[in-house]
Amino acid sequence: MSEKIKLKINELKQKINEWNLSYYEQQISPVDDSEFDKTLSELILLETEFPQYLTSDSPTQKVGGSFDLNFNKYTHKTPMLSLSNAFNEDDLKTFDNQIKKELGNKKYTYFVEPKIDGLSISLIYKNTKLHKAITRGDGVVGEDVSQNVKMITSIPKTIADNSDYFEVRGEVYLSKNEFERINSERFRQGEKLFANPRNAAAGTLRQLDSQIVKERNLDAWIYFLMNKENFTTHQSSLEALSGFGFMVNPLGTQANDINGVIEVIKSISNQREDLEYEIDGIVIKVNEFDHYDSIGYTSKFPKWAIAYKFPAEIKTTKLLDIFPTIGRTGKVTYNAKLKPVKLAGTTVGAATLHNASFIIDREVRIGSDVRVKKAGDIIPEVISVIKDEKYETLPVWVESTNCPDCNSELQRIEPEVDQFCVSDNCVRRIIRGLEHFVSRDAQNIEGLSIKLIEKFHEKKYVNNVADIFKLSNHKSELIKLDKMGERSVDNLLSSIDSSKNKSLEKLLFGLGIRHVGKKSAFILSKKYRTMDSIMLLSEIELSEIRDIGPTVAKSVCDWFKVEKNISMINELKSMNINLEYKPAMEEKTNEQITHRTFVITGTLSKSRNYYKDLLISYGANVANSVSKNTDYLLAGEEAGSKLDKATKLGVRIINEEELFNIIN
Ligand code: IVH
Repeated sequence: MSEKIKLKINELKQKINEWNLSYYEQQISPVDDSEFDKTLSELILLETEFPQYLTSDSPTQKVGGSFDLNFNKYTHKTPMLSLSNAFNEDDLKTFDNQIKKELGNKKYTYFVEPKIDGLSISLIYKNTKLHKAITRGDGVVGEDVSQNVKMITSIPKTIADNSDYFEVRGEVYLSKNEFERINSERFRQGEKLFANPRNAAAGTLRQLDSQIVKERNLDAWIYFLMNKENFTTHQSSLEALSGFGFMVNPLGTQANDINGVIEVIKSISNQREDLEYEIDGIVIKVNEFDHYDSIGYTSKFPKWAIAYKFPAEIKTTKLLDIFPTIGRTGKVTYNAKLKPVKLAGTTVGAATLHNASFIIDREVRIGSDVRVKKAGDIIPEVISVIKDEKYETLPVWVESTNCPDCNSELQRIEPEVDQFCVSDNCVRRIIRGLEHFVSRDAQNIEGLSIKLIEKFHEKKYVNNVADIFKLSNHKSELIKLDKMGERSVDNLLSSIDSSKNKSLEKLLFGLGIRHVGKKSAFILSKKYRTMDSIMLLSEIELSEIRDIGPTVAKSVCDWFKVEKNISMINELKSMNINLEYKPAMEEKTNEQITHRTFVITGTLSKSRNYYKDLLISYGANVANSVSKNTDYLLAGEEAGSKLDKATKLGVRIINEEELFNIIN
């Protein structure tokens, strides 16, 4: 039995880790949010029931989140926790029974409010003034986005509370209308569309240019007061916040018991479609603050609250056609053209079918009725086919053998299931590659939309990324192109010019080497500092780097074996494009940490990777074993031989709290 549970836990951990990796390295969500949440809940449940199998490297021990080097980090005074999830009435009743058990016969009520699909934010006021706005980050350390948040008109900049520390938490979001407006504008400019209002809000909040934030009309619902000393209930604290000028959601309702909660959930769910903003569930909180400490917390969430998550909506419609498209790596994606259908608030006319095996496994046929689901992405997914009488008469679908754009033969590159166009002359591949190079997370060349790239490619001004930096040679021709004009050409050339000095990881990511996501590009750049040293690494050396792995190693090594790529890098060099890692100004230093060598051991409240990343961000080295060169041993519970060795060698031994004291 116990072996079985251990196996199940490992299986769930592996699944979630893989999804996380894909999400953080390749910005691809292999599963939809509700499946992710369900799997995570299953893991949390098993780990709660069988704590002997809970390890510090479990994905339940870290809150996902990535950092942008452009924003200062800020350690939250109180960690920003997440919420555990409920998917049905049974889960809600189990939650209620848990509360009952904790509180004995003490009276309690609930407060039920919409779960806004945005980004959580912590707002700190000092002596009436908005002092800082911090994102959640990984829950412990967030990013200081104060400049951008100051552009949100619905967030008061001054409040009628004079305390020297006043903190509220809430959700920054974009209304459905604003989202549509921004996306239509982006469409007109040929820019990549935001997948949903949450992504658009996240992209906006991390804008380096506050002016753009101002134009985008973000809003914020405030849902929690941290200084709750003067209040007895969550409801009364929200009323006070509303009085201070914060936007407090009007749908929040008090409920006397769990049946009352279920009624409110039904009522809010019925209004979901008509709301001006996206909600992805309902949050249920115990209303009386007095009970919070006795009900308690886990390391990830408070036990006095829970999020009821809406199931992903599924609709049936006719599949009119299947057509392939080519991405920047040459990967083929099959798409479904659908009879338009209303799904989760928008009209859907296309869905992804991923790859040929996906279609073959589900036996999808053109002309059949299919079930589609929104997976948190702009393009929904076909999940299954309806095999009715009509279906039997339809021809079996067969995969494309040739590239829809350049007609070269498609290939399968083992071990991947996808087909690829490998032709270097495929125009679609080239255009997509250039589009990636100029994108925000790469060189961030504003104004170079896909439409312009297509035009410049057609005119033979650009064929590879180095050509982008030569566009100034074509200035007079560019001005003559329709709709360009001198001013926009000047703007474009100056944004190309200012991208020449970006730190190496941006360029490395922008090259579009298969499997090299933002994180791998950053790890390689930070460790090896220059393009020249990365180019010289062998596949073995690459695969030995922590967090790189054999797939990325092979891909990087193969890329640098191609002569055309090397000559392109040489061209970049000759144009003085920066090919060195430049630590962001904000990279922190701490006299006691920077350049010191740390070893981490024992069971900590967060994963070792978390501490490793934290220490590296302060310029420390993190080694695997204790030696006389070790400056600190960060030791958690049940530390073993490393602790003994450190004691013997007189290495300074610190715990998590002491580390945070040093940092702060
Ligand atoms: S309460 C300790 N209330 O949902 C209290 N969260 O999945 C934690 N969220 O991180 C949050 N609407 O970003 C709360 N009305 C609401 C919310 C809400 C959205 C977000 C929040 C949180 C996430 C948890």
